[in-house]
Parts: sequence; structure tokens; C-alpha cells
Amino acid sequence: MKTALVTGITGQDGSYLAELLLEKGYHVHGVVRRSSTFNTSRIDHIYRDPHEADARLFLHYGDLTDGQNLTNLVLDVQPDEIYNLGAQSHVRVSFDVPAYTVQTVGIGALNVLEAARQLNKTKPTRVYQASSSEMFGEVKETPQTERTPFSPQSPYACAKVYAFHQTVNYRKSYDMFASNGILFNHESPRRGETFVTRKITRAATRIKVGLQEKLYLGNLDAKRDWGYAKDYVEGMWRILQHDEPDDFVLATGETQTIRTFLDYTFGTLDLDWNQYVEIDPRYFRPAEVDLLLGDYSKAKAKLGWSPTISCKELAELMVQHDMVLAKNEAASK
Ligand code: NAP
Ligand code: GDD
Repeated sequence: MKTALVTGITGQDGSYLAELLLEKGYHVHGVVRRSSTFNTSRIDHIYRDPHEADARLFLHYGDLTDGQNLTNLVLDVQPDEIYNLGAQSHVRVSFDVPAYTVQTVGIGALNVLEAARQLNKTKPTRVYQASSSEMFGEVKETPQTERTPFSPQSPYACAKVYAFHQTVNYRKSYDMFASNGILFNHESPRRGETFVTRKITRAATRIKVGLQEKLYLGNLDAKRDWGYAKDYVEGMWRILQHDEPDDFVLATGETQTIRTFLDYTFGTLDLDWNQYVEIDPRYFRPAEVDLLLGDYSKAKAKLGWSPTISCKELAELMVQHDMVLAKNEAASK
């Protein structure tokens, strides 16, 4: 039975990955930040009292900016696999808090690699680094592959480029099993509510039941390659099961504008989004990433990984989930 350590376990991907690893029989250890209110709502349904004999999910307080804490944790838990998913992951917010973003995303990844290096002296461990399509930024070619040069356009993306290169550097310098997943945007009903897809599905369903009148957005012309988060955590796992460490793009190979996502979402609800959406310049970014479109053929060939859900199906799935929330909210008024 394998043991995994997951940073960012309370986030969208961390919660799906924890479910997947538990299904596969792993012992799962998650790093959670102390906060003044509980931040474990995405994993509460899989958490059991750790005193129970069959408990396999364990949570530990920690923070990516605290390298000593991470090293102690890694040496204590002795994980076979480490998934570094923790991050200040909001691109727009990274312009407001650049130094904090670089600390968590960049130095945080270095802290994880250093902790893994210490463990590696006595026990082999494998590291997954959550790299991002945002690293392609002002894209140099389309579609983007593992060989496309990076051109980051935000403090977040710059920090992810640093973390990517450190992961490759630790692989080469210390002969470590350290791999990057270069993941394009992936969404789900568990997506944070300030990312554009979830912001749209939450608003459209609240508008449908009469709880909201307007939806304020920024740039509607950007194009994103949107997939389903559950597919992508399966890809993360496959990256660490591969016979050698490597870097892989996970994407759908299709791209849509925000307008198209609005069409899908409001269309499912028989609404015309043009009547409800207004532009608020607050949501524009100092620098925008105009187009992301991934080529996942390497992951398909080497890992047997492919996405299973189209963007339209994803929008429908998210609307279905958020409609229940909206109806419950309306009923409680
Ligand atoms: P998310 O929902 O924003 O989750 C981020 C997680 O990181 C949360 O568990 C958060 O804890 C934790 N975290 C934040 N700051 C931390 C710190 N200083 N120390 C320890 N943990 C910290 O992000 P996600 O969508 O699941 O993404 C997972 C990872 O993949 C991130 O690294 C992200 O940058 C990367 N990525 C995401 C996508 C995507 O489209 N979703 C695409 C490419 C790459 P709290 O719950 O306490 O806030
Ligand atoms: N968040 C947000 N809010 N984005 C908006 C809005 C709005 O009101 N209006 C338009 N957008 C546009 C953004 O300008 C961007 O072009 C696009 O919608 C997607 O924004 P996000 O959903 O915030 O995602 P992101 O592409 O910036 O970043 C996500 O994907 C990356 C992978 O490419 C995050 O999950 C990152 O952590 C991840 O690395």
C-alpha cells in the first residue's frame, strides 16, 4: 500500500486527487493551512476520525512558505509520492500580491523539492509539480506543447516558470523522480467561485431563480482550453506512475472564448447572457493571456491519458450542480 503527501489538498484538484488516491488504496496525507474558519469543505466527505482503524486520510498543519515544516512532515510521513498542488493560484490576484504569490508558488515548490531530496537519501520518492499553461503566456506557437517556449505574463506565471525549472533541475542534479504536469485550465463544481467559469455558472443559476440581476466580468475575448478537473487528477497520478520522470501537457485540444462559455451556460438555462452581463474594468488584468490551446499527444501516447468531457458538457455539469445551490439558497430566503 502506497503513501502520498498532497499539498493543496483543500483545493479543487487536491480534493479530487485525494478521492482518487483513496480509491486506489493509498494512505493520503494532506497539508492544510491554519485558518480562522474551517477550510476543509471540499474534503469533509472523505475525512474519517484518524483514530478509526481503517482511516487512510490524515491532515497536517503546514504552509508552503515554511520549508522546515515541510521537511519534517516529509521525513515523518515517508511518502512514496508527493503531489505539490498548493498555490496562490489566482492570476489576477497575483498582480495584487506578487511577493506572496512568488513565495508560495515559487519558493514553496523549492521547499517541497528540498524536503523530497532529504527523504530521497534514505527512501525513493516521486514528486509531481503542478505546472501551468499560464507559463506559455504570450504564446510563441499554437497549439502549445512540452517544447513551446515559456513567455509568462503575470507574477503567478513567472513563479510557475521558476518552479518548473527547479523541478527539472532537481531531476537532473540529484537524479530525482520529479515531473511537471503542464495543465491547461480545468474546472468543476468544486472550482473556486472567483475563477471565470464558476463565477459564470454561479451567477447564471442565481439569475435564473431570481437571486441576482447582473454579472460583472472583464475580458470576454480571451480563449481558454477548458477541461474537467477529475480527468486531470487522473493524469497527475499517471505522470507519477510512468517508468521515468518527464514533463507532460494535459489539455483538451479545443479552445473557447469566455463568450462561448457564456453561451453554453446561459443557453442551458434558456437565458440570453447579453441581457445580464456587464463589463467591469476591475476584472481586466495588467497583462492578459489571449489564447491557450494545448496539444496533449505526448500524454496520450506515453500515459494513455485523454480527456473525457467537452467544454459544453462541463458547463452543463457545473450548471446542474450550481442550480441545486441556487434553489436551496432561494428556498432559505
Ligand atoms: P485552488 O483550488 O486554488 O487550491 C489551492 C490550494 O493551495 C488550496 O488547498 C490552498 O489552501 C492551498 N494553498 C494556498 N496557499 C498555500 C500555502 N501558502 N501553503 C500551503 N497551501 C496553500 O487550486 P487548484 O485549481 O486546485 O489548482 C491546484 C494547483 O494546480 C495549483 O498549484 C494551481 O496553480 C495549479 N494549476 C491549476 C490549474 C487549473 O486550471 N485549476 C491549471 C494549471 C495549474 P486553502 O484552501 O487554505 O486556500
Ligand atoms: N477570474 C476572472 N473573473 N476571469 C475573468 C473575468 C472575471 O470576472 N472576466 C473575464 N475573465 C477572463 C480572464 O481575463 C482570463 O482571460 C480568463 O477569463 C480565465 O480567467 P480565470 O478563470 O481566472 O483563469 P486563468 O486562465 O487566469 O487561470 C487559471 O488557469 C491557469 C491555467 O492556465 C487558474 O486556475 C490558474 O491557477 C491556472 O494555472
